Amino acid sequence: IKITIIDREGVFHEVDAPTDMNMNIMELVRAYELAPEGTIGICGGMAMCASCQCYVLNDVPLPAKSASEEAMLSEAFNVLENSRLGCQISITPQIEGLVVELAPEA
Ligand code: FES
Repeated sequence: IKITIIDREGVFHEVDAPTDMNMNIMELVRAYELAPEGTIGICGGMAMCASCQCYVLNDVPLPAKSASEEAMLSEAFNVLENSRLGCQISITPQIEGLVVELAPEA
């Protein structure tokens, strides 16, 4: 599927995202090196660091936030109404066309 990621410099990247590799958005960003090493995915995808925070820019059906995602976002910086943790969004056919912008490094 196609996913668009806007990096922290504001550059748009439309990338191919595999739905059969059990990947999430944080891992996708890392795989395409769209954020400097060490600035995203610090907790390894456990919803415990918010380094993978991103803003969802279009209306695509996403999985509901878990309690741990809600808790992390309630204490993270730069959180907006449309903030999600990239590591908590699995790449599935349902999210085809998703557009997300990486939150600034906190
Ligand atoms: Fe740490 Fe997503 S990688 S919260």
